Amino acid sequence: MSTPIGVGGLSTRHMGPMPRLFGLMKATATFLAVAILLQGFSAGRLLAGEEDGRKAHEALALVIVVALLVQIVAAIVVLRGGGPKGFLVTGLVLLALTVAQVALGQNGEIAAHVPLGVAVSCAVAILAYKAWTWRPAQR
Ligand code: HEM
Repeated sequence: MSTPIGVGGLSTRHMGPMPRLFGLMKATATFLAVAILLQGFSAGRLLAGEEDGRKAHEALALVIVVALLVQIVAAIVVLRGGGPKGFLVTGLVLLALTVAQVALGQNGEIAAHVPLGVAVSCAVAILAYKAWTWRPAQR
């Protein structure tokens, strides 16, 4: 007997349909991972005293907040379509942390801003991994 093989070691043969807008959630989670990575680069230029780095860091902060709002909308649709709660909870927690991150950055609270930025980056990487590996159970 052959063993079905799917993404992340999960079987793709015996799974139910993906909830609506799950593709949008994968796209936003991936976009967020790239945007956060770029935020690290802009932080580096900002710390090097480059004005373009500060401008990019500020603009990317807004891009990240908007992407999180889109991710939350997609996660609500996914939840209503029978998907897991985790994507919505993660999106809401990330939004709260990112708003705090913006306030800390604007107030020059580097001692808290840098570690929180690293923590948010790790959480976004996990979100993207989960979005690409989650599969619905057989219905
Ligand atoms: C979700 C990720 C992040 C967001 C949303 C964010 C947002 C911001 C914002 C809005 C500012 C104020 C910019 C200005 O006043 O022009 C700022 C400043 C700053 N950020 Fe970030 N940031 C993030 C991640 C990071 C990371 C990972 C680092 C470093 C590794 C970093 C380093 C800095 C530094 C050094 C400043 C300057 C603070 C000052 O002027 O005293 N940020 N950030």
